[in-house]
Amino acid sequence: MSITMNPTVIATELPRVSHADALAIGTLLDTIWPHDDRGPEDRARKLIDIGNRYEGPAQRQPLSLVVWDDSLVVAHALVFERVITLGPKPLSALALAGVATHPDCRGRGLGEVVVQAAFDRVDQGLFPLSLFQTSLAVENFYTRLGAKRVENPVVNSHNADDPNTNPFWDDIVMRYPAGGAWSDETIDLCGPGY
Ligand SMILES: CC(C)(COP(=O)(O)OP(=O)(O)OC[C@H]1O[C@@H](n2cnc3c(N)ncnc32)[C@H](O)[C@@H]1OP(=O)(O)O)[C@@H](O)C(=O)NCCC(=O)NCCS
Repeated sequence: MSITMNPTVIATELPRVSHADALAIGTLLDTIWPHDDRGPEDRARKLIDIGNRYEGPAQRQPLSLVVWDDSLVVAHALVFERVITLGPKPLSALALAGVATHPDCRGRGLGEVVVQAAFDRVDQGLFPLSLFQTSLAVENFYTRLGAKRVENPVVNSHNADDPNTNPFWDDIVMRYPAGGAWSDETIDLCGPGY
C-alpha cells in the first residue's frame, strides 16, 4: 500500500453515500471484523441505512471518516449522533464506532487521523462529548488522543426485555474529552450499543 505521508481524511456524508463508497468501507470493516453471516454488502447496507434514517440538521449528520488509497479504504471511523442521558440529563453524544485501519497500514498514524477528525467535531462545539466502547488493548491509543475511561453503569432503557443490562459488548467505555465535569450516574444509551 502506498499511503504514508500526510494522510487526508475524507468526510463521507452518509445520507448521500454512494453504493460504491459504502461497499469500499464495508470491505475494510469485513476484513477487520469478519462475520459468518454478514459480509461487506451487509455492512454497506447498514451504513446506507444510517444515512437514510437521519432526519436531523446537516451539521450533525452521520459521517464515515475515511482515508483512501486509490479505491481502497485503508482507515475508517463512523460517527453519528446519539441522544443519551447521564443521570437525568439528556446529552447529544457523538457516537464513535467502526474505527479500523487496514492491517497492512497500521502504525502510520492513520487511526489517529480518523479518530482526531471525529473528536474535532466535539472540539468544534457540535457535540458536548463523544462516547464509545473499546477494548483494553486499544485504550492507550484513545487516551493519547485525549479520551478517558468512564466507570459509569451503562444501560438501554429502550430494551423492554432487558433495560438494565449494558448494551455495549467491548471491555471498556470511554469519553472525549477527558476533562470537564463528570458524574458517576448511570448512562442510558436510549438504544442499542454501537
Ligand atoms: C486501533 C487501530 C485503529 C489503530 O490504527 P493505526 O492506524 O495503527 O493507529 P496509529 O498508527 O494512529 O497509532 C498506532 C498506535 O496505537 C497503538 N495500538 C493501536 N491498536 C493497538 C492494539 N490493538 N494493541 C496494541 N496497541 C495498539 C499502537 O501501539 C500504536 O502506538 P505506537 O505508535 O506508540 O506504537 C488499529 O490497530 C485497528 O484497526 N485495530 C483493529 C480494530 C480495532 O480494535 N479498532 C478499535 C475499536 S474501538
